[in-house]
Amino acid sequence: MPKKTTQSTKNKTTKKADQYDNDDYDYVDYWTGRDYEHDAEEMAIKRFIKGKKFKAAADVGGGYGRLCVLLRKYADKVTLAEPSKVQLDAAKKFLKGHKDIDAKLMQADELKFKDESLDLVTMIRVMHHLPDPVPELKEVHRVLTKDGYFVLELANYAHARNRIKHAIKRQPLPHDPVDIRSEHNRHEEEIAFVNHNPKTVVRQLDRAGFQIVKVLSVSNLRSPKLKKYVPHGVMLSIEKIMQPTLARTYFGPSVFFLLKKK
Ligand SMILES: C[S@@+](CC[C@H](N)C(=O)[O-])C[C@H]1O[C@@H](n2cnc3c(N)ncnc32)[C@H](O)[C@@H]1O
Repeated sequence: MPKKTTQSTKNKTTKKADQYDNDDYDYVDYWTGRDYEHDAEEMAIKRFIKGKKFKAAADVGGGYGRLCVLLRKYADKVTLAEPSKVQLDAAKKFLKGHKDIDAKLMQADELKFKDESLDLVTMIRVMHHLPDPVPELKEVHRVLTKDGYFVLELANYAHARNRIKHAIKRQPLPHDPVDIRSEHNRHEEEIAFVNHNPKTVVRQLDRAGFQIVKVLSVSNLRSPKLKKYVPHGVMLSIEKIMQPTLARTYFGPSVFFLLKKK
């Protein structure tokens, strides 16, 4: 697990997002055995940006740079914008040889980019840690050019399995983010870990000044059993069909939005 949160000394930022500065937690290793999820996410990003060319892109909360190499195929310059020094150290190794990928220490509510200086921003698997993402969404809005694109992933509480569970119990889906930490970790200093209701996030995106261009439902077949018995290529062929067809129902555990400024 990432470590506990610490308070920042800066005025603007209330909590320092350095929880991944934990030598006991190996985020590179987390991806072992998750080829299906990785490929499904790259598939979604490619679908959104295929045929486009960007001048300057940033992957906000990009970890060790897992997706930066893909972004570099579409953008002249890519910045890995990441608040954890441990992740940035891992990036030095992972991104070795990629001279056009810069790695900089910063967090999403205080991006060190000028206004309207990026024409592509991605933020993947970071919403998990943002129970109230509006300040971060507004900050991305600030740095994005007028015609720029923002690719946002959210951990989806309203996925099909949860909807069935709630229907059986005759309980409505919560609008607010749902804390998915264990009882033991459910306290102030522990890193936030939430799943979002996409309908709430759509309203938050609107408040931050974004319009939705496209939606995809991603990692629809995330299941250890399926991954064990169904060949990888078959999983991805089915995923390819499911991503757009199930998007509007927010079927999968992960929802990807392609956004532009309103
Ligand atoms: C689950 S990892 C995802 C990393 C990368 N985006 C990926 O998909 O491989 C979450 C990342 O979000 C970063 N993070 C957490 N809170 C953040 C914040 N407030 N602003 C920016 N990044 C943050 C963490 O340091 C970590 O690298």
